[in-house]
Amino acid sequence: MNILITGGAGFIGSHTVRHFVDRYPDSHIVNLDVLTYAGNLQNLKDIENAPNYTFIRGNIRDEALIKDIFKEYQITHVIHLAAESHVDRSIGDPMLFLYTNIIGTAVLLQVAKKYWENDYSGKLFYHVSTDEVYGSLGQDSGLFTEVTPYDPRSPYSASKASSDHLVRAYHHTYGMPVVISNCSNNYGPYQFPEKLIPLMIHNILHKKELPVYGKGENVRDWLYVEDHVRAIDTVLQKGLSGQTYNIGGHNEWKNLDIVHLVCDIMDSKLGRKAGESRNLIAFVQDRPGHDLRYAIDASKIENELKWTPESTFETGIVKTIDWYLDNQEWLKAVTSGVYKTYYDRQYNTGRKGKLTE
Ligand code: NAD
Ligand code: DAU
Repeated sequence: MNILITGGAGFIGSHTVRHFVDRYPDSHIVNLDVLTYAGNLQNLKDIENAPNYTFIRGNIRDEALIKDIFKEYQITHVIHLAAESHVDRSIGDPMLFLYTNIIGTAVLLQVAKKYWENDYSGKLFYHVSTDEVYGSLGQDSGLFTEVTPYDPRSPYSASKASSDHLVRAYHHTYGMPVVISNCSNNYGPYQFPEKLIPLMIHNILHKKELPVYGKGENVRDWLYVEDHVRAIDTVLQKGLSGQTYNIGGHNEWKNLDIVHLVCDIMDSKLGRKAGESRNLIAFVQDRPGHDLRYAIDASKIENELKWTPESTFETGIVKTIDWYLDNQEWLKAVTSGVYKTYYDRQYNTGRKGKLTE
């Protein structure tokens, strides 16, 4: 396989790149990432010199660049993760989400079609999507299945839903081999500290306010990032073209319960008084249009492709907190902005790597 992974310098993307580089030494992995605020090459320091790995800085909307990449690396598989991913930011700047998540996906599909359409055998376009396309569930009951009607309710989820529709349209209209997976909330190492769990870890560490939206009663279904990456590998290898697979960890938690849990684990690890960090909790104005509850029925991928999550939330959250405590330099670099210079030091000095922005 010659695999183009988009968004490989981000949170899930960097775990995905590392997994494929390590697991498939005979495959070439091309990581295309424009390095927005969320892209950080320090996430991939350990594999940056691997012989089967190439990083290219560029935008998924840059059609000429994508064509060059398909031609030069004879791309057979795309794992498309690049996106604007944060719901709160989509409320402030919806257009950016539409350009990246919709138009960017359309450009990738169009180039893949051009290069593959004479012979689709051995080719696959894998689109990594979210459970948020299904909308919101009631407080206590119901699960998202692969046939739940789409009902996106934020600019982010609407843009991801649009991109899912485009991917299916290329399958039905042009016969392109595609798979889509819709996953629940991920957590784990290297997640940017704007998302709930790393933000709370960061703020507890620095004794800053812990902003809980509304009453903290919204429910999310959490999956350890490495379980998601194993699911992505499973779907790439065994998924049937044209199919959708929901991925989730059967780990439903109310936001306030998560914040309490993270506070208590960190108090004990940091040698603070029991209950000390809970005093930092501040109930703040709710997110506009805040979806009440997400929960995934993952029985299709479990039964048909034999994937199951390995981490429970209780084990995954401890691994995650330990990672952030052991990697405070990483946290400092991303909160201070210092990580942005890493690209220039490593890649802008004549090393292979194209710069398009
Ligand atoms: P992230 O924000 O951490 O990373 C996104 C990456 O995409 C960054 O490295 C960024 O630089 C890159 N990028 C953004 N715009 C780009 C562009 N125009 N061209 C090239 N690269 C660009 O996101 P994440 O949380 O790792 O999510 C990755 C994917 O998984 C997204 O498609 C997201 O919708 C999906 N997803 C995320 C979650 C989650 O809980 N984080 C759950 C389900 C699905
Ligand atoms: O469900 C999958 C989605 O999960 C992914 O598609 C998105 O890319 C990813 O960002 C995530 O979206 P959420 O909006 O669920 O994640 P976030 O970490 O932003 O928020 C989780 C919950 O915590 C949500 O109910 C809002 C709440 N929250 C969040 C933040 C950042 C707070 O109460 N306080 C906060 O400061």
